[in-house]
Amino acid sequence: MQTRKHLFLIGFMGCGKTYWGKILANKSGLPFVDLDELIVQASGQSISQIFKAVGESGFRDLEQKVLKTIQEMPNSIIATGGGTPCFFDNMDWMNDVGTTIYLKASPALLAERLRSEMEFRPLFAGVKQNAMEGFIGNKLEGRAPFYQKANVILEQTKDEAEFQVRLLKAIQRS
Ligand code: S3P
Repeated sequence: MQTRKHLFLIGFMGCGKTYWGKILANKSGLPFVDLDELIVQASGQSISQIFKAVGESGFRDLEQKVLKTIQEMPNSIIATGGGTPCFFDNMDWMNDVGTTIYLKASPALLAERLRSEMEFRPLFAGVKQNAMEGFIGNKLEGRAPFYQKANVILEQTKDEAEFQVRLLKAIQRS
């Protein structure tokens, strides 16, 4: 597997950006970078604490600032946050300095994966379990125009082995 630029994995929470990022880093020998982790390190606070302290807009400012520090790093596989591409010029910037891959998944699949971790995700605060799929569907609709700007779009199914083959092929071509 060869990559000549940063590889940004984008998509909604629960789409597997960190999961697949680690696998790709392993296979390519490139470093793995988790943008949320960088933000936590930079601020000394958890993502939930940041949301509580400065709200979503404060979090987005910090997210953009930390994202841009990636340009100075050696080529890496980067798991972005679900909202990263949808604020400021982040999506265009990522397309400029690297290749973006959208790990697309249906609201039903995302809701199934996220059900057990809702309490750790500030964006789901106040959302009831049975309203999850609808909430995700609405949010996805708003975010789709940004996600669709990705260099590569890959639709996931529950068949992980098959998806891994498609993902590796797409990266080799990119
Ligand atoms: C967010 C996704 C989270 C994190 C923050 C906001 C979002 O990242 O950045 O809670 O707006 O979708 P993951 O997608 O890595 O969970």
